[in-house]
Amino acid sequence: MNIILLGPPGAGKGTQAEKLIKELDAVQISTGDIFRTNIKNNTPLGQKAVGFMNKGQLVPDELTIDLVWDALDKVEDGKTILLDGFPRNITQAEALDEGMQKRDNKIDKVINIEVPEDVIIERISGRRVNISTGKVYHIKYNPPKVEGIDDETGEKLIQREDDRPEAVKERLDVYKKHTSVLIDYYNDKGILVTIDGTKTPDEVFEQIKKSLGK
Ligand code: AP5
Ligand code: ZN
Repeated sequence: MNIILLGPPGAGKGTQAEKLIKELDAVQISTGDIFRTNIKNNTPLGQKAVGFMNKGQLVPDELTIDLVWDALDKVEDGKTILLDGFPRNITQAEALDEGMQKRDNKIDKVINIEVPEDVIIERISGRRVNISTGKVYHIKYNPPKVEGIDDETGEKLIQREDDRPEAVKERLDVYKKHTSVLIDYYNDKGILVTIDGTKTPDEVFEQIKKSLGK
């Protein structure tokens, strides 16, 4: 079973992905995490992506779609694929359909995590991340044991560059203009389920599991 996690910035896609990969023994493909790792390691891909990301704009489709193919080709046959942050517009969604078909595979479920804007702003402003692993915390809702330090690796937690207010505003605009149309795109295919993302992470996870028949 292959799944897309859809939702506005800060909806909790990464948080739920972390739980789902354990539950389903799935492989997570998070385009945002891949770009951030490339930026940290100053790779050619990171150098091309950084300007777009820091402004809160989408990285061009050619770069993004290619990196998803590379990631898909590395997934062992039969493993569940969990896409977080991809697709983000109709071009990417159509490319994904085609790419999956070529690999004799398909998307089975799209989980749309719904969260209103005021909650998004509070979540994003309190988020802290480990850039190496993608592990996400929140200063109030999911704090680390020691302030500013990742429980798992002892590395420093930071605030994402695109979590500054100007970039957040742009990300929300981009979501409304380009990504939210995917709700109808997948609803028309009959594979969309919408989840109330305002509950606690565990409650949201329970709703997701139920929607997957678990
Ligand atoms: P990406 O990294 O995908 O960012 P995003 O979509 O904006 O989503 P976020 O990571 O901000 O939020 P999330 O939904 O994962 O929430 P999280 O679990 O962290 O993309 C970043 C950038 O990369 C894009 O702007 C673009 O430039 C580029 N990019 C990526 N993919 C691309 C693509 N396909 N095409 C082109 N460009 C692309 O949770 C947020 C906070 O809330 C955390 O602190 C968390 O602890 C807390 N929290 C989570 N759930 C709950 C809850 N239920 N209750 C309370 N707190 C909660
Ligand atoms: Zn995320």
